[in-house]
Amino acid sequence: MFTPGLLLSLLFAVSHVTPSPVGEPSFDLDTIDKVVADAFEISNHSWELGTECEAFIELYSPSLSVFYDGAFPPPRTLDRHLIGNTTAMIDIATHVVQTKEPGTLPLIDGDGAVGDPASLGVAVLLANWTRTNESDQSFSVAAQDQLVYLLENTLRTSDGAISHRVSEVQLWADFVYMAPPFIAYYGIFQGGSQETALLQEAYDQCRLYRNYLRDDSGLWKHIVLGDTASQDFRHWGTGNAWAAAGMMRVLQTIRHSSQAWKFESQRADLTSWISEIVSATWAHQHENGTLFNVIDDDTTFPDSSSTALLAATTYRLAALTKDYAFVPAAQKALHLIKQNVDTDGWLHDTVDPETFFTASPPGTFSPEGQSFVLLLQAAWRDFTASLV
Ligand SMILES: *[C@@H]1O[C@H](CO)[C@@H](O)[C@H](O)[C@H]1NC(C)=O
Ligand SMILES: *[C@@H]1O[C@H](CO)[C@@H](O)[C@H](O)[C@H]1NC(C)=O
Ligand SMILES: *[C@@H]1O[C@H](CO)[C@@H](O)[C@H](O)[C@H]1NC(C)=O
Ligand SMILES: *[C@@H]1O[C@H](CO)[C@@H](O)[C@H](O)[C@H]1NC(C)=O
Ligand SMILES: *[C@@H]1O[C@H](CO)[C@@H](O)[C@H](O)[C@H]1NC(C)=O
Repeated sequence: MFTPGLLLSLLFAVSHVTPSPVGEPSFDLDTIDKVVADAFEISNHSWELGTECEAFIELYSPSLSVFYDGAFPPPRTLDRHLIGNTTAMIDIATHVVQTKEPGTLPLIDGDGAVGDPASLGVAVLLANWTRTNESDQSFSVAAQDQLVYLLENTLRTSDGAISHRVSEVQLWADFVYMAPPFIAYYGIFQGGSQETALLQEAYDQCRLYRNYLRDDSGLWKHIVLGDTASQDFRHWGTGNAWAAAGMMRVLQTIRHSSQAWKFESQRADLTSWISEIVSATWAHQHENGTLFNVIDDDTTFPDSSSTALLAATTYRLAALTKDYAFVPAAQKALHLIKQNVDTDGWLHDTVDPETFFTASPPGTFSPEGQSFVLLLQAAWRDFTASLV
């Protein structure tokens, strides 16, 4: 086992940067600005915007993120000297709420998905909490509608897993990043027994999804139940990344809640379920650091998107558990991602996130992949800071 000090010197020996009390960025800030601009340019679907908001929170306003020790309650004012630049995240939330279709419950059109619109819920809750116009209830009402939709107006399996699809009961690994983190975060603002119930619900959704999707490999299938043509039992890299990263956000929300003490066994479960994916994943890492689109299928192609989000989650897990066994794998992945981001900030070698099983066509890029680079940057920074 590495000691933190030895690990730190190894990390910095590899990445040629000098340690500082807050850690050095793994990408230079100029490149990150370009990655951000590119994410803006091509993110449009509900889940892409939700993931982009989360990336902006973690990157630009870490003290508003669920990873921050003093996360709750968040400050009521967005003083950028204290909490960084929230402009982009609040702007997206404001646009979504202002253009929400009247008479509907989800925050935004979800292209047939139940979970995806909820990915914007955390940003909308923050916009509500920090609004300057106290009489403006639009954010609060929109967030509440989204929660009611998820909990009361969706199809479920007989044991309670919320369907990821509107039209039939079907479970996708993607759901775990989209909905449970919002459900848990909503609970934080409610307090009391509603908070207890919502934290438990977020945990239960993770538990149920794992029961259906995980197999003996330790990895998760992508899509089960419902229409057989769209079922997909392969171990999709991005699906595993959504699941591990989503459970990590739920875990951190519970950990930083004033009710964390009530959830000891749930926290242990989430930690072990994330570790399970992380450890099964890196067993299939290729020599140059990449993962393949189907993690355990070398006949597929290299995928930078899932590599980036799984590396980010690995750094988050190591910062939490102080178990550094998989940090070298994350480090290797980070070096690969750095090679795959070009001088204009575009991430190359990604899966096409709409087909799942073909590479992005030449000259096109992955909106979620751009955000995953930002999540990796933020996770690396926070991990490095946790060592000193
Ligand atoms: C997103 O899609 C909508 C509707 O298709 C379109 O009007 C809008 O310009 C798109 N935005 C971006 C940033 O591509
Ligand atoms: C804050 O972020 C917005 C959107 O990314 C950007 O336009 C603005 O220049 C940033 N402001 C500062 C002070 O960094
Ligand atoms: C505050 O919100 C209320 C309710 O939405 C609205 O009527 C009012 O115009 C807003 N005030 C400002 C200064 O924007
Ligand atoms: C919106 O913010 C207010 C505080 O201004 C809070 O009381 C309310 O619970 C929030 N709404 C939601 C849905 O969290
Ligand atoms: C990494 O290795 C894989 C083969 O395992 C290869 O297909 C891919 O192009 C390599 N990526 C880079 C950036 O060299």
